[in-house]
Amino acid sequence: MKLSVFLSLLFLTAVWADTPANCTFDDIKGTWTFFIGSNGHDNTVNCSNMGNPKSQLQVTLYFPDVAVDEFGNKGFWTIIYNQGFEVVISGRKYFAFSMYEQSGSTVSSICDKTLPGWSHDTFNRDWACYYGKKITSVPPKYYKKNKPHRLFKLNYDYINNINKQQKLWTATVYPEYEGKPMRELLNKAGGPASQVFGPIKAAPVTWEQQRLSETIPEQFDWRNVNDNNYVSPIRNQESCGSCYAFSSMAMNEARVRIMTNNTLQPVFSPQDIVECSEYSQGCAGGFPYLIGGKYAEDFGLVEEKCNPYKGQDHSCSTDKTCKRQYATSYRYVGGFYGGCNDALMKMEIYRHGPVVVGFNVTDDFFHYKSGIFIHTGLTDRYNPFEVTNHAVLVVGYGTEKGVKYWIVKNSWGEKWGESGYFRIRRGTDELGIESMAVSSTPIF
Ligand SMILES: *[C@@H]1O[C@H](CO)[C@@H](O)[C@H](O)[C@H]1NC(C)=O
Ligand SMILES: *[C@@H]1O[C@H](CO)[C@@H](O)[C@H](O)[C@H]1NC(C)=O
Ligand SMILES: *[C@@H]1O[C@H](CO)[C@@H](O)[C@H](O)[C@H]1NC(C)=O
Ligand SMILES: *[C@@H]1O[C@H](CO)[C@@H](O)[C@H](O)[C@H]1NC(C)=O
Repeated sequence: MKLSVFLSLLFLTAVWADTPANCTFDDIKGTWTFFIGSNGHDNTVNCSNMGNPKSQLQVTLYFPDVAVDEFGNKGFWTIIYNQGFEVVISGRKYFAFSMYEQSGSTVSSICDKTLPGWSHDTFNRDWACYYGKKITSVPPKYYKKNKPHRLFKLNYDYINNINKQQKLWTATVYPEYEGKPMRELLNKAGGPASQVFGPIKAAPVTWEQQRLSETIPEQFDWRNVNDNNYVSPIRNQESCGSCYAFSSMAMNEARVRIMTNNTLQPVFSPQDIVECSEYSQGCAGGFPYLIGGKYAEDFGLVEEKCNPYKGQDHSCSTDKTCKRQYATSYRYVGGFYGGCNDALMKMEIYRHGPVVVGFNVTDDFFHYKSGIFIHTGLTDRYNPFEVTNHAVLVVGYGTEKGVKYWIVKNSWGEKWGESGYFRIRRGTDELGIESMAVSSTPIF
């Protein structure tokens, strides 16, 4: 029956299709040489084959976000999740993914090198390719890709246990997932290229941040600000690992509505991202900083009609005649990866609009129906679920019976959760949701 099929899907483990690097702050900080190719290109430059480097630049990356070049110029840098890093110095930006290699089922992260990446001036006019090599070497990290586990495992007890263990939220069964391979569920929750390993945590809230965050309203919801809704409709990513694209589009959609008081209400195309962005891995996953932020600044977003959603990988088929909507000032809330916390998120949301966040999806989350989600810690004892990083849009916050929560827009259709939304406990960095919020500002 349907229920058994759905439940069993939850307990298969991932089949990896794509292999993200896994590089931490400690791996990356230090002195790098950037080997830079010819400049004078525009944003259509193809960096997969950059040719011989024409120049070099040495840059030292210090804790937490200061970059200094060989001439003593100071700039900014951040790691981008565990995927790579971006440096902004002397009027140019440099972004590359960290290097990784794969042989058989073994993946190695090579954190002292980057893949070929993109450098351009901050006005986006002059592009070049580059790659980075760290002066001091970092030992490669190896891990084995998971093999799929055995198949279905009916477990009604699991949902009952969730509902028995706590009263903050209610779990239910979603029979419409029947017959879908586990890979699809994993994709819904971020995809195999969206795993964030390592000890990322929200930054401590300073006394000053606390004081400032208490000067703004205790309840706020962009879906209803004096009876005006500034949030675009709920969508469904289906079985493609494109949550990062949906949440990134949704942030820009909401912020355009806010900045124009709903005069403009674009719906942007996640399929353009899935097909055309080299800053992400299509249906295998990607990250909001690089899409809602960097891609929106470097390449711009197009409306849905320019490339309607297909829910699968495809070569780039976006209508080239479409006008592109740009954004700027993309950043991690708190300034750099690791600088975010609940007080800063609350202020950013109230002052500027929704933010995109990532959080660890655990097997209990799939069953969420209503209430304030907390991770129960309950797992199926036969086939525990592989943790993925799911990107979603925080559109507001509030308090119910003394429990503080975020209001979050998901991209799993309107039938999931509270009409497509969920609430999750606030102030406790639930599953890392307060550790990596991203914002950007649309340009008109
Ligand atoms: C970029 O160049 C590589 C190798 O030369 C080629 O395989 C790839 O298709 C090119 N990509 C694009 C988007 O043109
Ligand atoms: C990723 O790196 C972190 C920190 O070095 C390490 O703890 C973790 O086990 C690594 N995970 C994988 C899958 O390589
Ligand atoms: C924004 O639009 C709403 C609804 O039309 C209107 O009531 C409100 O006055 C507008 N706000 C501004 C600042 O124009
Ligand atoms: C998220 O999951 C990763 C991978 O399992 C783990 O290293 C990390 O500690 C988790 N973080 C939180 C906040 O749950």
